[in-house]
Amino acid sequence: MRREDFPVLENKDVIYFDNAATTLKPKKVIQAMDDYYQYYTANIHRGLYDSAVLVDYLYDSTRFVVRDFVHCSSAKEVIFTSGTTHSINLIVFGYMRYHLEAGDEVLLSKAEHASNILPWLRLAEEIGIVIRFVPLKSDYSIDYLDVVDTIGPKTKVISLAHVTNVIGDVRDIRKIGKFCRENHILFHVDGAQSIPHMKIDFIHDYIDFLSFSGHKMCGPTGVGVLVARESLLKDMLPVFYGGGMNQSFHSEGGYKLKEAPILFEAGTPPIAEVLGLKAAIEYLNEIGLDRIHEYEIMLKKYLVQELSRIPSITIYNKESESGILAFNIDGVSSMDVSKFLNCYHICIRAGNHCSKMLKEDMEIPSTVRISLYFYNTKEEIDILVAALKKCRKVFQIVGN
Ligand code: ALA
Repeated sequence: MRREDFPVLENKDVIYFDNAATTLKPKKVIQAMDDYYQYYTANIHRGLYDSAVLVDYLYDSTRFVVRDFVHCSSAKEVIFTSGTTHSINLIVFGYMRYHLEAGDEVLLSKAEHASNILPWLRLAEEIGIVIRFVPLKSDYSIDYLDVVDTIGPKTKVISLAHVTNVIGDVRDIRKIGKFCRENHILFHVDGAQSIPHMKIDFIHDYIDFLSFSGHKMCGPTGVGVLVARESLLKDMLPVFYGGGMNQSFHSEGGYKLKEAPILFEAGTPPIAEVLGLKAAIEYLNEIGLDRIHEYEIMLKKYLVQELSRIPSITIYNKESESGILAFNIDGVSSMDVSKFLNCYHICIRAGNHCSKMLKEDMEIPSTVRISLYFYNTKEEIDILVAALKKCRKVFQIVGN
């Protein structure tokens, strides 16, 4: 659906199945950024001339658009970052560093993306927190009861992806969030792979911190969001200091800072990108997330059905309720599959997908990953399947 909105798809040869890495951008988003550069470029929160006032309004009103999109309590809870990685680093080094102590436990899973593991590993080195992993089931998803089972009296934080980026399993964040709230455990949800595809409800899912990126939801690169409960933001410190976030400073060393969310946006922020993000959210709202999710699940089922007919293909996540599919072809490396598909202008991702701990449970170092979005079609899947049927034969012939 809506293929005509995407300039990249005007090239009829291109089949883009790498949407978990980044999505294509619709004209509306490109236009929003282009308008800023062409007609009213100005910095924010500094100028009193017309274009500066207009840009202030467009930038800050985006917080309300995000508030309504994720259903948090206030636009003050919406901080613009450079992406999910930045958001999680801000949580870990702006909040957790000052609220956790040696021996406190943080619960993660081995299926998390690097950005939801490495900052915690660094904090463990720095202050001695302990990281525990909720066990993965045989399908690499997690079970609510295993989460409950893995926590102990020292568990202070649970930090999980809503949808994982290799297996695409959807976690029951409402149930986990409720448990966290009842047990005074902070709950961070990495929404990078879910926000573009399904509804999330910050309040009713009992979320304390939510991070996501603009570029995986039809928006620009270089912008992301951290949503955090207002009461927690009052106790969070910035990681970056500079212009825009201070009220005053003087030569004796004293300084006064502003309040959240500006406090966490030092320097000139990605203004064009924030305006692009606003356009992206409005665009997704126009289509409707429920419709997007339903369509992706229909496509995923079709993809599973068609790939299951190829005996040399092993699919690792037939049942996961998202548009992500991970598989391998017997005897052909995922990198070779990717290069082969490129000959047909089919864009997919191969490798470990930045989830480098998952292989400890999967016991395979890499997979081919197809990740679908609403502009993909059954016809594109048919072309992919036809190419994959040839792939193994070609690599057998060349003696791989
Ligand atoms: N996190 C992105 C992916 O899974 C880059 O591909």
